[in-house]
Amino acid sequence: MKTAVTEMFGIDVPILAFTHCRDVVAAVTKAGGMGVLGAVAHSPEQLEIDLAWIEAEVGNRPYGVDLIVPAKYAGSDGGGYTMEQIRQLIPAEHVAYVEDILRRYEVPPLPDDDRRVSALGRGGVSEMVAPFSEGQADPLLEIALAHRPALVVNALGPPPPHMIDRVKQEGRLLGALAGKAQHAERHVLAGVDLIIAQGAEAGGHTGEVGTMVLIPEIVDAVSPVPVLGAGGIGRGRQMAAAMALGAQGVWCGSVWLTTEEAETHPVVKQKFLAATSSDTVRSRSRTGKPARQLRTAWTDEWDDPLTPQPLGMPLQPILIAEAIARIDRAAYKPGSGAEKLTNYFVGQIVGSMNETKTSAQVVFDMIDEFIETVASLAHQLDD
Ligand SMILES: Cc1cc2nc3c(=O)[nH]c(=O)nc-3n(C[C@H](O)[C@H](O)[C@H](O)COP(=O)(O)O)c2cc1C
Repeated sequence: MKTAVTEMFGIDVPILAFTHCRDVVAAVTKAGGMGVLGAVAHSPEQLEIDLAWIEAEVGNRPYGVDLIVPAKYAGSDGGGYTMEQIRQLIPAEHVAYVEDILRRYEVPPLPDDDRRVSALGRGGVSEMVAPFSEGQADPLLEIALAHRPALVVNALGPPPPHMIDRVKQEGRLLGALAGKAQHAERHVLAGVDLIIAQGAEAGGHTGEVGTMVLIPEIVDAVSPVPVLGAGGIGRGRQMAAAMALGAQGVWCGSVWLTTEEAETHPVVKQKFLAATSSDTVRSRSRTGKPARQLRTAWTDEWDDPLTPQPLGMPLQPILIAEAIARIDRAAYKPGSGAEKLTNYFVGQIVGSMNETKTSAQVVFDMIDEFIETVASLAHQLDD
């Protein structure tokens, strides 16, 4: 295929894969698309290891790295809070509520030899720097730039000026997610090279405008800057639709979560395979900002109007980090409270994720269906 995005990166097909799993990054890049490693929950040491591994796997083919520095978070006013100061902002009522959920669902404590806690299902919350902050992202950015990702992406706001300067200095391309045309315009003014127009169907942090409406709005607003369509795209017909709307390629996140390579929690993977497209919800219960995820007892608990509302970012992820670690550890026991609570980010496309395939097969199937779709549309015109 030949689009602005295949030309930009020298790839065969304009399919970009957002994933936290290095095996998926390598598999999609090797299949002719481009994997982008979500590094927000990586420790600097783990990122170093994963990027070296990816580069050994993919040879000269390109890959990307994704960080999250939100435009607004507690401490983004330059207050420079320590983790201890941030913890003190968490109300006792919220701490008690999390304890209450764990008690009612009989979630056992972590054993003493496994005290690692994780806000995002991987890596860990550092005791030193707040998650989702520039302080956390800066060392990760420098490690990324010491390797050779072709693309660095930021989510939840325009990349901060320091990130833009460093990425440009190193001659890499910069991408950013946008859920509104105004956000995309702001990114382009800041110097972003590639916009990911992510509609409300998407897994993870997402806005309220659907992909069908969002893509053409953003394409028109930022032309000639190339746009990738995202949110609810997992097969060739959806890829063809995104490209008919003006996107130069697609950016998929959820569809990799049930692949053979994915490191998704096995219990959650089974829930994803069984779920319908109605089984997700936008909830602030994991990160403090609205993020689409599987609806389970966990999201129901936080949706109850009689209980405390989730805190903002990064207070909510700090508040629940240990609870999530406890739930995920205990969720393997069938019928347990932890099994009922466990969930993860996923988009509405979960309803079509009904079998486990390799990541390469997902790419090949998407391309086959894309070709069939474009041919069939052309045929309709001939008739
Ligand atoms: C499990 C999961 C975690 C995500 N985490 C991030 C992230 O850390 N950074 C980011 O830019 N986008 C993140 N996203 C959003 C994806 O980059 C992508 O835009 C989205 O998944 C596209 O919609 P889809 O889920 O329908 O494919 C995440 C998505 C999922 C499913």
